[in-house]
Amino acid sequence: MTEENYLHVNKDLWNNRVKGHYSSDFYDIKKFKKTRNSLNSIELDLLGDLTGKNILHLQCHFGMDTLSMANMGAKAVGLDFSQKAVDQAGRLRDEMALEAEFICCNVTDAAKNINAKFDIVFTSYGTIGWIPELFPWAEQISKLLKPEGQFIMADFHPMVWIFDENFSKISYSYFNKKSIIENASKSYAGVKENGKSITWNHSLSEIFSALREYNLKLDEFKEFEYSPYPCFSNMIELENGKFLQKNIKGMIPMVYAMKWHL
Ligand SMILES: C[S@@+](CC[C@H](N)C(=O)[O-])C[C@H]1O[C@@H](n2cnc3c(N)ncnc32)[C@H](O)[C@@H]1O
Repeated sequence: MTEENYLHVNKDLWNNRVKGHYSSDFYDIKKFKKTRNSLNSIELDLLGDLTGKNILHLQCHFGMDTLSMANMGAKAVGLDFSQKAVDQAGRLRDEMALEAEFICCNVTDAAKNINAKFDIVFTSYGTIGWIPELFPWAEQISKLLKPEGQFIMADFHPMVWIFDENFSKISYSYFNKKSIIENASKSYAGVKENGKSITWNHSLSEIFSALREYNLKLDEFKEFEYSPYPCFSNMIELENGKFLQKNIKGMIPMVYAMKWHL
């Protein structure tokens, strides 16, 4: 799989998802416009007070989390390689009368496209699986942080990605052995699609090694038995906003969250 091929395939998928996701119940834009917050307690606890902070949000989709951080007082920049997502993010920002900048580029070209340094680089839920190698990703984070700047990430745990779609058997390696090519009829947001995707599994040691290689130091690492999103098959709500997959409930971590500093 050449780099050009995977970027082309995945960019098509994500551009095609924007319209359906924007009007989906999953993203519930109507509610977001009222609450002006789409962030969960998992990442809010790590982000803390954002007043006056310069934040770069990697892989921002159509910007709900970026705009949530802007609403909390951050000077936020969202980045995504989907032009349609970035355009939609700009329209949402204007409609909500918030201030934020949106940039369209590949996450592993971020430092070439952004001439600024940030107090916080943030990324969440469904991010590094789209990137084949994590060293170039970690390099961008390191280049874009101010000295002592923080990298904050919350994402689905690599244990989750080893199962088949119904969580009935182990189908994929925990380790980054090869690309995973799939054709799904529905996205995680429940929107019909006919989309090919190319993704990679990344073990915790691969993630840690990449960030350490670029001089990031770990401050906090947490694992959660629930997901804040009902985005996998057969999920049940444990309590408000905490979802478990029926077959594996409580037996493996579904999400991890971590804070690093330069
Ligand atoms: C699951 S979404 C991000 C999650 C965000 N929490 C949300 O639900 O709105 C993944 C995003 O990564 C973006 N993406 C995928 N590969 C990328 C790449 N190589 N460079 C930049 N953005 C990428 C997609 O366009 C998509 O918007």
